[in-house]
Amino acid sequence: MSSQSSVSSVALNPLAEAANAAIRTDCPAVLEMLSERGKRFFFPAKGILAQGAEAKQKAKTANATIGIATESGQPMHLQCVHQYYQGLTPNEIYEYAPSYGKPELRQAWAKKQREETPSLGQSLTSLPVVTNALTHGLAVVGDLFLDAGEEALSSDLMWENYNLSWETRLGARISTYPFFDTRLTGFNLQAFTQALFSRRGRKLVVALNFPNNPSGYTPTRAEAGAIVNALTAAAEAGSKLVVVCDDAYYGMFFDEQCETESLFGRLAQAHPNLLAIKIDGATKEEFVWGLRVGFVTYGVKGGTKAVYDALEQKTAGMIRAVISNVSMPGQSIVYKALQSPSFRAQQAEKVALLRRRSAATAVECRKSEYADCWDVYPFNSGYFMCLRVKGVTAEAVRQELLETHGVGVIALGQTEVRVAFSCLTEAQIPGVFLAIATAVRALVAKK
Ligand SMILES: Cc1ncc(COP(=O)(O)O)c(C=O)c1O
Repeated sequence: MSSQSSVSSVALNPLAEAANAAIRTDCPAVLEMLSERGKRFFFPAKGILAQGAEAKQKAKTANATIGIATESGQPMHLQCVHQYYQGLTPNEIYEYAPSYGKPELRQAWAKKQREETPSLGQSLTSLPVVTNALTHGLAVVGDLFLDAGEEALSSDLMWENYNLSWETRLGARISTYPFFDTRLTGFNLQAFTQALFSRRGRKLVVALNFPNNPSGYTPTRAEAGAIVNALTAAAEAGSKLVVVCDDAYYGMFFDEQCETESLFGRLAQAHPNLLAIKIDGATKEEFVWGLRVGFVTYGVKGGTKAVYDALEQKTAGMIRAVISNVSMPGQSIVYKALQSPSFRAQQAEKVALLRRRSAATAVECRKSEYADCWDVYPFNSGYFMCLRVKGVTAEAVRQELLETHGVGVIALGQTEVRVAFSCLTEAQIPGVFLAIATAVRALVAKK
């Protein structure tokens, strides 16, 4: 017997059985969407964790359950570590967080999501489960919903880590459709709709990432409505869709036309055959890349508390199995920032700075004198923009830029050059595009 078949023949834990039964009763299509691993997963609520929780309530004399060391009623700690923290108590720094995440942070993030997503209305969703930022959220979703050989659909312009996490790690297959129409005016709705249509009746994971990395494009309101309609129609036609809204760059919108609500709001109540999953977090939105705090949230039409509890349990079980729990200081800081009365104003100030850089970039990259060097992909949001260089490869341009001009950009595919205007000052922007044009022309002249 192969190790694979012996793994899948292991009897389901009764807690996994109970979670699956809850999903089967209220949202049978969602059970079909889970991977074999996803079906097996559960949160070990009756073991050490449950005994520890019970002791926390009742062990008034002495609590010898917790896997930390204490002193004077607080987590033990070293001064050489503690000197780097201010404004956080030892409990907020050194204790383990629950595998689901700090309860008050989950509530605060849910409140923020609701405020930013009015289309959710009163519809029920899960509570966000805390992940080690968005990369980990995407990985957990892959673990729970993608078996080896299964297909995920993404745009051709996508964050390359989808490949590493879902293809290389899990053996799933990522298929792509062209993100932009051929005239580079906007989202390629026709290609997207066709990709869904040609897979109708099947299970499919669909990754949507707006604002998009690498292009920096967010669909317009009309495009966003059409995307929701296309997905709803595919679900109505019998496809079982797991739609992953990767909202990493949420809030960085620089154009009036942008859809400023996450598509999760409408997708979460679109159709019983469509499970919407919101992957979001503090990383880019709160400018805390290294803190590693993200969230996974579920929504499906007809979803009940029992279904969301089951999905949260499977998610937290996966977290418990791999990393146990997410950094306590990271969660404490993000929670406190969300409570700060100046959070929104400070965030808006930084977004305004990025908007000015985006505007400066738009002027420079579209100058008519560069028309021989590249086409500009549409961009209106996020951290990045992309050029399609003419007559040379993106990799050659990247190397020439580094060697001759000391300018770093990312080469993607054959001809895409990604520029992160998010980390350029406005003063640097004209020089960067002049350098790219000079590099392209020098390479063309050498041919
Ligand atoms: C589209 C997209 N999703 C997810 C992530 C991962 O973000 P995190 O740093 O929170 O793991 C990134 C980071 O670059 C990204 O560009």
